[in-house]
Amino acid sequence: MTLDKAQDTEFVRFWNEVLEPKFTRYRHILQGGLSRHSAAIIPNLPIKKGMSVLDVGCGWGDMSLQVAEMVGDEGRVVGIDCVDAFLEEARKDAAAHGLSNTEFRRGDAEIALPESEFDYVVARFGTMFFKNPVAALRRMRLALRPGGWMTHIVWRRREDNPAWQAAKDIVLRHLPPPGEDADTCGPGPFSMGNQEMVEIMMKSAGYEEISFKRVDEKIMVGTTPEECIAFALAIGPAGEVFREAGEELAEAKRSVIEAEMREFFDGQERDEVGIWVPTSSWVITARNPG
Ligand SMILES: C[S@@+](CC[C@H](N)C(=O)[O-])C[C@H]1O[C@@H](n2cnc3c(N)ncnc32)[C@H](O)[C@@H]1O
Repeated sequence: MTLDKAQDTEFVRFWNEVLEPKFTRYRHILQGGLSRHSAAIIPNLPIKKGMSVLDVGCGWGDMSLQVAEMVGDEGRVVGIDCVDAFLEEARKDAAAHGLSNTEFRRGDAEIALPESEFDYVVARFGTMFFKNPVAALRRMRLALRPGGWMTHIVWRRREDNPAWQAAKDIVLRHLPPPGEDADTCGPGPFSMGNQEMVEIMMKSAGYEEISFKRVDEKIMVGTTPEECIAFALAIGPAGEVFREAGEELAEAKRSVIEAEMREFFDGQERDEVGIWVPTSSWVITARNPG
């Protein structure tokens, strides 16, 4: 089920070629921020020594390594992601931690996952980009043994994560919205924000005992206002509008956009580490019947 490059969809190519360099550049912000939403959750999941766990969309794999410590030498963790560069970093970090119970594989969860192999499936901000979310969530369920559990963490709605929307609104005051055929990372970061809708998706994918837990966390979005602006224009909803407007138009409007963003980020909380914004996620847990 390892994904060969020849099988790459447009989506996988887009992640590897367009998004990867931006994600890698801002790893300190992304990993630092996303891990705040899992830090208190993962140690309290019923993941025990000896279990076998799959991490879908594992990225740089820091959460996979956290789980690998929980399952111990007698357990195993498989991290799957579609981006080669993230997987290389994950493998290096696993080796540096001396973790031999961890494996990182290139895969596309939309196309294939192992079947009936795992006691637990986890995903941190890795399920909001699926083109066919119900099919992919079902595939994640089928990766579980009967009676196994899954927990995925996704952003709540846009209005619960106002900084991303504010940054997008600023860019949209000066640039056109992306067209229908724009290159995107998938349905987008807030596509699983609506609890009722996600509950229906999870039920349609065959899960039972579905529960939602809300997590509110401030995350650091840049060490300086300049870095916040560069990050917002590179990644996320504002970054997508900026990229899709095309270089010429985007560069022509850059200074006015940056000035308005500067005003916005100057209004956010700042300490000696950087600039912080409030964010909110759902931790969704469910069981594979069996
Ligand atoms: C926002 S990042 C989160 C990464 C990591 N879980 C974390 O929290 O740091 C989303 C990840 O999902 C991966 N991804 C998106 N769609 C995928 C798919 N269909 N199959 C496998 N990985 C996917 C991306 O490559 C990326 O690493």
